[in-house]
Amino acid sequence: MSKCVVIGVTGGIAVYKALDVISALRKKDIEVHVIMTESASKFVNPLTFQSISQNMVVTDMFAEPKAWEIQHISLAQKADLMLVAPCTANVLGKVANGIADDMLTTTIMATKAKVVFAPAMNTNMYENKIVQNNIQKLKSFGYEFIEPASGRLACGDIGKGKLADVNTIVERVLFELEDKEQDLKGKKVLISAGPTIAPIDPVRYITNRSTGKMGYAIAEEARDRGAEVTLVSGPTNLEPPKNVRIINIRTNEEMKKEIFENFADSDIVIKSAAVADYKPKEYSKEKIKKGEGDLNLCLTRDNDILKMLGESKTHQILVGFAAESNNVIENANKKLINKNLDFIVANDITASDTGFGSDDNKVIIISKDNKAMHLDKMSKKEVASNIFDMILGKR
Ligand code: CTP
Repeated sequence: MSKCVVIGVTGGIAVYKALDVISALRKKDIEVHVIMTESASKFVNPLTFQSISQNMVVTDMFAEPKAWEIQHISLAQKADLMLVAPCTANVLGKVANGIADDMLTTTIMATKAKVVFAPAMNTNMYENKIVQNNIQKLKSFGYEFIEPASGRLACGDIGKGKLADVNTIVERVLFELEDKEQDLKGKKVLISAGPTIAPIDPVRYITNRSTGKMGYAIAEEARDRGAEVTLVSGPTNLEPPKNVRIINIRTNEEMKKEIFENFADSDIVIKSAAVADYKPKEYSKEKIKKGEGDLNLCLTRDNDILKMLGESKTHQILVGFAAESNNVIENANKKLINKNLDFIVANDITASDTGFGSDDNKVIIISKDNKAMHLDKMSKKEVASNIFDMILGKR
């Protein structure tokens, strides 16, 4: 049966790009319904959207219904997915704060389908703390985002805020609509995510920039494909994924303990955590007082958990990550061999729009038999999907 996407179009200069998204989805036989805000209809006439989507375009909540149905409820129920592209700061703000005062915002509020926002706005607006706060709030409620791109904006400014590429949006919609095959049913998947911390004294610690987003995306993908998932996570600001067993840890030692407790039982183990390699040689029980001169901190090596897993693995498929700033493939390959892995996912951490903190990633997945899958920049969820496809030999 064909899938149905309800596309919310809000008022921004990128409105016309939504036409290309709709056209691409129609070519895939996806039913598309468009809801435009009043300001969007000032940029492009709703008639154009009607012709491309081959459906009536809804703008006015109080227009005469064509059939006896309450439109915002009927579209909300009909949708397999809602996409808001381009999405203004105004609409993000409304939804984040529970305001439903037009057809689009009421439909978003009424739907049980997944809602994906593709924001587009001026860089300063996008970076505004209020907007960023709204985005975080929406994410914590399970709304999803396609990050805007960087470049020259319509207003002449250069920076982040351009509507993501049409292809990126279309691919993401297709990905979200896919009926997930339950190809990990019966499998136990163990995942590590986020940073670890190495305490110096009761108030100070050393850590790194990992946000845990990649590992959490892997956990969600494994769960959606039917696996029983255990996620061992360092401190993050992310919402714990539903129906995933989550174990929170702080230090390298705690992560090692939890990972090993669950290792024997697991079929697939994916270590996406950024584990600290060093910790202070002496932990000071008292807060260290400042002195006159420099303070030398002596660091000592901590466990390489993944290497230890590689040495003791039996039947498990073991997947590591390699965060590299140079010679990405060469360094990743060394880790693949040294740590006795089945796969390694390598990423270049110097790229500014992917990697740490971003919703996107650009990786190469390398197998122990030297197959390499070079992936374009894509959402971390899509990267996760490719990792499992590779593990299951579907790629
Ligand atoms: N890893 C681990 N324990 C560590 C360090 C890393 O289990 N003490 C795991 C990570 O979870 C990741 C892989 O090893 O899956 C590679 O991590 P990375 O930080 O890229 O490499 P390192 O082995 O620490 O090497 P280096 O920092 O020298 O690049």
